[in-house]
Amino acid sequence: MKSSAVLRDEIKKKPGALVLGFFEGEREIPASIGKLDAAHQDFFDGLFRAKRFEGKDKQIFFSFLPALKSAQSVFLAGLGKKDQYTLEKFRGVVGRVVKQAAAHHLAALSFDVKSLAPQKASSHDIGRAVSEASLLASFRFDKYKTGAAQKADHDLKNLDLVCDELLEKKEMQAGIKFGRLVGEAVNLARTLSSEPANQMTPEILAARAREAAEDAGLICQVLDRDEIKELKMGGLLGVAQGSSEPPKFIILETPYENPSQKPVVLVGKGITFDSGGISLKPPEGMEKMKYDMSGAASVIATVWLAGKLKLPVKVIGLAPTCENLPSEKPQRPGDIVTISNGKTVEVINTDAEGRLILADGLSYGVNLKPRYLIDIATLTGSCRATFGEYAIGVMGTNRNLLDSLREAGEKSGERTWELPLWDEYKDHVRSDFADLKNVGKGLAGAIIGGKFLEEFTGGVPWAHLDIASTGWFEEHHAYLAKGATGAGVRLLIQFLKDLT
Ligand code: BES
Ligand code: MN
Ligand code: ZN
Repeated sequence: MKSSAVLRDEIKKKPGALVLGFFEGEREIPASIGKLDAAHQDFFDGLFRAKRFEGKDKQIFFSFLPALKSAQSVFLAGLGKKDQYTLEKFRGVVGRVVKQAAAHHLAALSFDVKSLAPQKASSHDIGRAVSEASLLASFRFDKYKTGAAQKADHDLKNLDLVCDELLEKKEMQAGIKFGRLVGEAVNLARTLSSEPANQMTPEILAARAREAAEDAGLICQVLDRDEIKELKMGGLLGVAQGSSEPPKFIILETPYENPSQKPVVLVGKGITFDSGGISLKPPEGMEKMKYDMSGAASVIATVWLAGKLKLPVKVIGLAPTCENLPSEKPQRPGDIVTISNGKTVEVINTDAEGRLILADGLSYGVNLKPRYLIDIATLTGSCRATFGEYAIGVMGTNRNLLDSLREAGEKSGERTWELPLWDEYKDHVRSDFADLKNVGKGLAGAIIGGKFLEEFTGGVPWAHLDIASTGWFEEHHAYLAKGATGAGVRLLIQFLKDLT
């Protein structure tokens, strides 16, 4: 699927559909298209009179309209209340239209940008939103379905963004290019997280990281079990202990060497399957724990994207990865492990494994003397219980960083919401026998997870993103779908872009 910005004069009658936006109560054909198809005002009037279409938020009306000059059919997209219309709503409109267009087997869409896009959005933002949302909306993970009939085919090939001036067209085209790479990165993360655990072992994840590195010109290093042992990563080794699949520690780096610039270090949780270990999870929903490597997937995809976009920031991605399984030689509750920074942890619950491997990941990150250290993880059911699927939980030690992440969240459509890391929570993770224990008292689970991680951040500016909330959708969404969402990629790339 390809998006392009086209001048209104360049439009020839296309076999696809013209997409027009209407705010609630708006009844005129958008002025921008009026000249072309003013004769259709009657048709529209009839629709409004019959209340078939009222421009309400989320409303989409489709009709075949062969007499239309610019296309064979038309989508009317409801934009809702004018003062509540945002770029995120616009992405939703694009997503809904693209999904319906696929269902109608349309080959092409022309977006009437003038009536559809928020007034304040720049041409770059508009182009980016359309290519991003359309790529996300057309993502499918159906490689394991056999037989053509089961694979819904995608006929949608061309998306035109209709604009009026050359400068607008140029900027929109640049935005389209940017958004396409973002969409590809998010879909890469979704693919990695959607793969079942028998097809996404730590070794396979490392191989995918190497491929991504090759494609984007990144430096890639994968540490194997012996090297992990040398670095004394007791957290990662302990969790990996129950599985015959060896752990890996993936390191990806953008190549732009500027010695005066400290790197931004991203650390992603890469549990390719979380059974809970000896503290076994109940069977209900356990199959979803294949997405417990979503943090790692987002880190790989984000560094790939930073490379592709040639962002002038040094970015280093770290992904400790292993399986969490019971076996005849697993980690046991009560075991005490030593993290690579020297702190000891009593493992009370083997299902709180993410923080153990992240402790080693963060400790490694601290040694890189980062400007910012950010970890991203499907860390706690508690975060999902708190936010549902509507916000990424954020905690951290640096106001600047937390504020930037909130802003990046607003802009990118990946909302973040902050939880506190007050001193009182520290008492919950003190152990009788080691420096720390890996679970609290069953209260404030998402915060306790963050508070535990803080112990491994060595005083550098750090933030923790808990994506157990938005990393998997059970609910219908305008431009994403049920399943793995690639959470964090759009947020992190916006954050990195705005740093420069
Ligand atoms: N991977 C899970 C967290 C999770 C749960 C992610 C649901 C997505 C959806 C994590 O490893 C885990 O098991 N966390 C425990 C921690 C508890 C034992 C302190 C949890 O949240 O129950
Ligand atoms: Mn777990
Ligand atoms: Zn987990």
